Amino acid sequence: MRKYKIAVIKGDGIGPEIVDEAIKVLDAVSVKEGFELSYKEYLMGGAAYDVFGDPLPEETVEGAKNADAILFGAIGGEKWDSLPRDKRPETGLLKLRKALGVYANLRPVTVYDELINASTLKPEVIKGVDLLVVRELIGGIYFGQPRAFEEDRAYNTMVYTKAEIERIAKIAFEIAQKRRLKVTSVDKANVLEVSQLWRETVEEVAKDYPEVTLEHMYVDNAAMQLVRDPKQFDVILTGNIFGDILSDEASMLSGSIGLLPSASVGDKHGLYEPIHGSAPDIAGQGIANPIATIASASMMLRYQVGEDKAADRIDRAIKRVLKEGYRTKDLSGFDAKEIVTTNEMGSLIAQYASED
Ligand code: IPM
Ligand code: MG
Repeated sequence: MRKYKIAVIKGDGIGPEIVDEAIKVLDAVSVKEGFELSYKEYLMGGAAYDVFGDPLPEETVEGAKNADAILFGAIGGEKWDSLPRDKRPETGLLKLRKALGVYANLRPVTVYDELINASTLKPEVIKGVDLLVVRELIGGIYFGQPRAFEEDRAYNTMVYTKAEIERIAKIAFEIAQKRRLKVTSVDKANVLEVSQLWRETVEEVAKDYPEVTLEHMYVDNAAMQLVRDPKQFDVILTGNIFGDILSDEASMLSGSIGLLPSASVGDKHGLYEPIHGSAPDIAGQGIANPIATIASASMMLRYQVGEDKAADRIDRAIKRVLKEGYRTKDLSGFDAKEIVTTNEMGSLIAQYASED
C-alpha cells in the first residue's frame, strides 16, 4: 500500500476548521484510490506562541522536514499583533518557508463558470481566466539584510542574487511549457536595480525555452492589466512582495479569496496552503469557506505525492458542489441554492469525491 506522512499545521483563526475539512476530503479519496495517509499535527503561529513562546518551535520544523508533505491552514490574529516581530505568527510562517527551502509559490487562479457572477468584474472579462502566479518566496525584501526599525527611521532591503532569480525563472518556464507557452515577468526595472538584474536574468533563462514567449511588465501596469484584461496572462513570474500583492488582487477574479489554493515548493519539500489569511473575525462560526484548503490538499496529492486520480476526484467534486449551488456565506449572494456551513461543505465535497 502506498503510504504518505502528512505534517498538519492548522494554525490560528479559521485554520483549524478549514484544515479539518481538507483532511475529511483527503481521507475519502485515499480510501477510494487505495493509499494511506497518516497525519501528525504541529503548532505554528499564534497557537505555537501561546504554548511555547515561539511562533515556530523546532519540533514543527523537524516534523515538517520529515513528512512527505505539509498541509497548512493559516496564521495570525489581532491577539498577537503587538508582539515584537520575531514573536509574531507571520515570522513563524516565513521562517518555516525558509527552513524548508520552498522558494517557488504557485498560485493558480481559475474562474469557475459556476461562480462567474461572484466576481466584482464583468463576466465577459473573467470568463475562461486561467493563470498562474509563480512567486519567489524565500528572498527579496521579505528577507533582505540590512533591515531595522529605528526611532525615526526604518528600512528593508530588496535583494536578489542571480542564482535565486534563475531557479524561480526556470520553474516558471517549465510550467509554461505545459500550459499556454507564455511567461509574463513582472518587475519594476524602470526604477529598481534589483529588478534590472531580475529582467536580465529572466532573459537569459528564456533562451533555454525558445517555444515559450516571454514578456516583461512593470508591476504597476501588471496590477492594472489584471483587472483590465486578465485573460492575456498565462504564467506570471515575479518576486516575493510583488507576488504577494498581485496574487491577492488576482484572487478576486475568481470571486472569493476563499477559493484559491497554493503550493510552496522547493527541491525537496512542499507546503500546501490556501492563499487567504486566518480571518479571526469569523473563526469558530462555521462560515469559513474550506474550498481553498481542500483545493490545496488536491495540489498536494498531485504535485507532491503523485496521486493524480485522487486529486482529479477532489477537483471534480469542488466543481460539482459549486454547480449545484452550494455556497458558504462568502458566496451566498451568487446563484446560491443552499447556504452551507464549513463542515457541510467539507462533507459534500468528501461525498462527491468518493462517488464513481
Ligand atoms: C501570504 C501571506 C503571507 C505573506 C503573510 C501571512 C506573511 O500574506 O502567504 O500571501 O506575506 O507571504
Ligand atoms: Mg499575501
